[in-house]
Amino acid sequence: MAKTKSFTCSSCGATHPRWSGRCDACGAWNTIIVEAPLSAGPSKKTLGGKGRSIELLDLAAEEAPPPRTCSGMDELDRVLGGGLVPSSATLVGGDPGIGKSTLLLQAAAKFAGAGLSVVYVSGEEASAQVRMRAQRLGLGDAKVRLAAETNLRDILTTLDRERPQLAIIDSIQTMWADNVEAAPGSVSQVRSAAHELVSFAKRRGTSVVLVGHVTKDGQIAGPRVVEHMVDTVLYFEGERGHQFRILRAVKNRFGPADEIGVFEMTGRGLAEVANPSALFLSDRETRAPGAVVFAGVEGTRPVLVEFQALVAPSPTPQARRTVVGWDGSRLAMILAVLEARCGIPFAGLDVYLNVAGGLRVSEPAADLAVAAALLSAREDAALPADMVVFGEISLSGALRPVSQTENRLKEAQKLGFSQATLPERSAGSIPKGVMVCQMNDLATFVGEIF
Ligand code: TYD
Ligand code: MG
Repeated sequence: MAKTKSFTCSSCGATHPRWSGRCDACGAWNTIIVEAPLSAGPSKKTLGGKGRSIELLDLAAEEAPPPRTCSGMDELDRVLGGGLVPSSATLVGGDPGIGKSTLLLQAAAKFAGAGLSVVYVSGEEASAQVRMRAQRLGLGDAKVRLAAETNLRDILTTLDRERPQLAIIDSIQTMWADNVEAAPGSVSQVRSAAHELVSFAKRRGTSVVLVGHVTKDGQIAGPRVVEHMVDTVLYFEGERGHQFRILRAVKNRFGPADEIGVFEMTGRGLAEVANPSALFLSDRETRAPGAVVFAGVEGTRPVLVEFQALVAPSPTPQARRTVVGWDGSRLAMILAVLEARCGIPFAGLDVYLNVAGGLRVSEPAADLAVAAALLSAREDAALPADMVVFGEISLSGALRPVSQTENRLKEAQKLGFSQATLPERSAGSIPKGVMVCQMNDLATFVGEIF
């Protein structure tokens, strides 16, 4: 079973069937290197080694994992799936300047307070700078050990000597291994550093958290090389102009993905937001045309957000569709359904859609709220101020029930909403005091509401 060599671009990580002078994927010259095949079947050397299998059930008896540690920051613990798992590897990605270092320094202090030994390795700032930041955050006396280091070998030596229970590496792009011939931040360096650190975590029982900057197109440097290596991937996101920050789990081997934690950036670091709905709706103009409150669910938690639409005659032949916080192709689909099934055209009209507060909504349950916002903006007619809307729209124009109806309605009621529009056949009981209007298709909705 002969396995051919692979040719990998040392700049972007793309693999090619044969060598060439220029990488087709990233356009860089002279970056393609020959990589030895990882495995060409079991070699004689590996046979008779330490490999051994054990019964799944025996695991508990033999090496029951120590329990998770909670930091006490509920927003973080929930996103981790209920606390930090020992020996786990976590990646925290986000735009530069969004607040990753702030979040992790605060988390380091909290975990240290909860009894873990914590080392915070900064490759971007000197120890004195990290300490200054900690003092500004009121964490000057936290029992966190600091290291300012970028050489991977030195970091591994430090970690091996200190054997911390949690090591935070800020950031993976600044780390470099001296046995890899590429600049720090290049894919081969990032991949090699992440691999070494993750295998250290598994071997030595240290949990590692890697910080990664994302590039413009939303990828953690390199074609998601690190994401595959770690157990948990969290993204820290938010609009730079807004004070809200969302920590979102996109992959989690130890808990549900799609869970979010909400924080607010203040002058003294990140504050947890226990009731995000109240915050997202705090400066809402009631009875504004085009504004509709959507009762959404993020992970296990209901979150109310406002969708805002603006529809105006287009000055250009090619009408604009601009979306912030929601999927552009989903908007196109809803516009098409409104036109084809309800006879409401949007041709010649510019459409702008925005989710207030900087949250990114990905649930199809928001379809009906988007349709309502578009119609409300087009007709210049506001919906009742105390109404929430949710439901999925199918291409036929039918409304489909969504999960967690009861949860959504309870949250709405808690925040003072007393009317809800949702699809028929939605499961779950309806809280007392909420007037619900259930419908089968979008055309009925248009007729009843507008
Ligand atoms: P930082 O954690 O350095 O971002 P990252 O590590 O993701 O690059 O955060 C940088 C921003 O956070 C910076 O613009 C200032 C702001 N900030 C505050 O508003 N309050 C604070 O207490 C701190 C420490 C930072
Ligand atoms: Mg930073």
